[in-house]
Amino acid sequence: MKHPPEPFKIKVVEPIKQTTREEREAVIRKAGFNLFNVSAEDIFIDLLTDSGTSAMSDNQWAGIMKGDESYAGSRNWFHFYDVVRDIFGFPEIIPTHQGRVAENLLFSETLKNGGIVPNNNHFDTTRANIECNGGEALDLVIDEGKDPVINHPFKGNLDPTKLNDLIEKYGVENIPLGMITITNNSGGGQPVAMQNIREISEILHQNGIPFFIDACRFAENAYFIKQREADYAEKSILEIVQEMFSYADGCTMSAKKDGLVNMGGFIALNDSDLARSIRENLIRIEGFPTYGGLSGRDLEAIARGLREVLDEHYLEFRIGQVERLAEMLNELGVPILLPPGGHAVYLDARRFLPEMSQSQFPAQALAVALYREGGIRGVEIGGLMFGKTDPETGKEIYPDLELVRLAIPRRVYTNMQMHFVAEVIDKIFKNRDAIRGLKIVEQAAVLRHFTVRLEEV
Ligand code: F0G
Repeated sequence: MKHPPEPFKIKVVEPIKQTTREEREAVIRKAGFNLFNVSAEDIFIDLLTDSGTSAMSDNQWAGIMKGDESYAGSRNWFHFYDVVRDIFGFPEIIPTHQGRVAENLLFSETLKNGGIVPNNNHFDTTRANIECNGGEALDLVIDEGKDPVINHPFKGNLDPTKLNDLIEKYGVENIPLGMITITNNSGGGQPVAMQNIREISEILHQNGIPFFIDACRFAENAYFIKQREADYAEKSILEIVQEMFSYADGCTMSAKKDGLVNMGGFIALNDSDLARSIRENLIRIEGFPTYGGLSGRDLEAIARGLREVLDEHYLEFRIGQVERLAEMLNELGVPILLPPGGHAVYLDARRFLPEMSQSQFPAQALAVALYREGGIRGVEIGGLMFGKTDPETGKEIYPDLELVRLAIPRRVYTNMQMHFVAEVIDKIFKNRDAIRGLKIVEQAAVLRHFTVRLEEV
C-alpha cells in the first residue's frame, strides 16, 4: 500500500483549540506577525518542528513508571546503553539532554586547535557549535541537493569530489573530523545513500580523518535506503542502520527526533580516550556519565523509542504521511520542494508569491497566511532567518530560497488533519494575490527570526 493508514490506535487524546478568524487576526497582530511569539494554545495544527514533539507509545509511558532515579548506575542507564550499543554499534556512549549539547561536547574536544569540519549540510546548531569552538563549518552537498525541483533519490549525498578537493586545499592536518547529517535537515530532510556513506568514510579514513554521523533522523534515512537503493530491499531496517554506522567512528544524536521522545540525546563513539575527556566535561556541565542531564525515566523512554522507530510499519506510515501531503499539494499545483524529505514538506514561497519582492519576506508572509486561514504554524526558512545586512554597503543580502517548512511531528496528527492542511493551503494558493508583504519594525542583531516584530506593508 502506497500510503498506509496509521499503524496505531489512539488511547489518550489532547484537545486542540479551534479559533475563529477574528481571534487569529488579533493573535497574529499581537505577536508582531512572528509565529514564534504565538502561544501554542492558539495553534490548531503545529508544524513548527518534528523535534521533541513526538507522541510516546503506551510502552514508553509504561517505561516512564519504571524509571530508576538513582544518581549513579540506574537500571535504565544499562537498558539505554544496551539498546544504543546494539543499534549504533559504538562501545562508548555518553548521554546528553539534547543534540546540541552532544555537538558542543564533541567539538570542544576535537577543535582545540580549530580546523575545518565538512558536512553535507550542517544544521544551524552544529554550525554554531563548530564556530563557537573556533572551527569552520563547510557544506559539501551534491549540486542536485541545492536544486528545489530536480528529482534525485539521495539529494542529501555529500559530494566526494568536493571532499577530495577540500582535503587537497586545506590539508588533512586542518580537518580534525568530517560529518554527514542523515537525513539532511538543512537540505530539505533529504536522505543519504549507503553507497555515499561508504565512499565518504573511505575518503576520510584513507586520509586518517575521523568520521562522525549526525544521526537525528537515522531510521527515516534507513527506510529511504531500503526503498531506493539496490541490494537493500530485502534487508531489515536494523541491519541497514547497523551497516550505516559501521562505516563511522561515532555519532551525535538528538533523540527528540527518531528517539520518539520529548527530550534527550547522546554521543556514541569508538575512541575511548576521546570519550574519557568528553566525560570530564559532561560531569561539569550535564551530569554523571550514567545519566548526563536526563532522568532515569527519560533514558528508559529513549531505549524503548529507539526500538519502536525501527518498526517498518511505523516508518512506512511516517514517510508515507509526509509524501501524501506533498502529493496532495503537488496535485493542487502548489509549488513545493521535490521530492519531499522524510520529516517535512517545504512550500516554495518564491514560486507561490512570484510578484512579491524578497525585501517583503514572502516566506514569512505565506506562514502568516497559513495561520490566519487555518491556525496552522509552519516556520519560515528564508530572508528573515538567513538574510543579513552587508556591513559595507548597508544593503540586505537575501538567501536563494524562500521556504516555509511544515515539519510533521511523529505519531501526532492523523491523515485527516493532513488533508485539512492541504485544503487550507489550496485556499490560500487560490487567493494568493491577497497576501501582503511584511516589513521589520524591531529586530535583534543575531538570530533575529526568533524575536523579530513585523508589520504589513
Ligand atoms: N542536528 C540536526 C540535523 C537537527 O535537525 C537538530 C535539531 C539538531 C542537530 C540539534 O538537536 O534540538 O536536540 O539540540 N533540529 C530541530 C529542528 C530543532 O526543528 O529541525 P537538538
